[in-house]
Amino acid sequence: MFRLAHLSDPHLGPMPKARLSELASKRVLGYLNWHMHRGRGMMQAASLDAIIADIHQVAPDHVTVTGDLINIGLPGEFARSRAWLSRVGSPDAVSVIPGNHDAYVRSTLPAALAAWGDYAKGDTKPETSRAQFPYLRRRGDIALIGVSSAIATGPFMATGLVDDDQLKRLADLLHDTGRDGLCRILLLHHMPIDGLTKWKSRLLQADRFRVVISKSGAELILHGHTHRASTHWIGGPQRPVPVIGTQAASLQSSPDKRGAGWNLFEISGGPDNWRIAHIERGFAPGATGIQELSRTELNAP
Ligand SMILES: [Fe+2]
Ligand SMILES: [Fe+2]
Repeated sequence: MFRLAHLSDPHLGPMPKARLSELASKRVLGYLNWHMHRGRGMMQAASLDAIIADIHQVAPDHVTVTGDLINIGLPGEFARSRAWLSRVGSPDAVSVIPGNHDAYVRSTLPAALAAWGDYAKGDTKPETSRAQFPYLRRRGDIALIGVSSAIATGPFMATGLVDDDQLKRLADLLHDTGRDGLCRILLLHHMPIDGLTKWKSRLLQADRFRVVISKSGAELILHGHTHRASTHWIGGPQRPVPVIGTQAASLQSSPDKRGAGWNLFEISGGPDNWRIAHIERGFAPGATGIQELSRTELNAP
């Protein structure tokens, strides 16, 4: 059995102090937004520390992080995100993809990817930085395929896009790893389903992404961005493909809302017969400790 952890959207704090010149453009809105939300206790370092401690105690074979480690791309945020990743695990055991906040303004994504290094690279080196995504990391019979939907957007927008170049390479990767009988697990920041996220936060051209999945198939798609746990299905060539989101990993619980959480997947079986159990762990509404919240066999509906 292979045990895979999935966490997302740590939005690492605290926000570094910013010079006025660094807050030009979109950043000033993000800076104010951060201080408003932290003031209301929505994102908490203590919750995130508890999530990481829980993952370490469960000791999965591999950890995936589906984006938004950074907030607004201030200089102090890159080295800190790398330091946090090294606390989660080694580059070999942790796979990261970027989210929209990791591409907050145009200069953010290259700096984030440089800081993350091997955490966001496949087993073989890409020929160019443009070809870094989708990456493939093979761990036994598991194929981890990291896709980037991270693009810099205008103020008030948090959309994502998987461009045609990536989609073409993704189709090839899914085809090859499917032919080899691997359990294909795709990592993507934005939710690839229309109408379930705010318009400003949607995945652009999500239909093109779904066409690739409907033709090539995948065993599991993991995403973040919504900050909420969710399970949906999209069409595949033989059977529907589960699309699983997770609570943001630094979310504070309240009496009526769940707090931070993460997903554990227990993967067994083999080609054409992969069995995946989905276990949600996290803070129940009002809870001060982490517990198992649900256990579901991901059988197509
Ligand atoms: Fe986020
Ligand atoms: Fe996001």
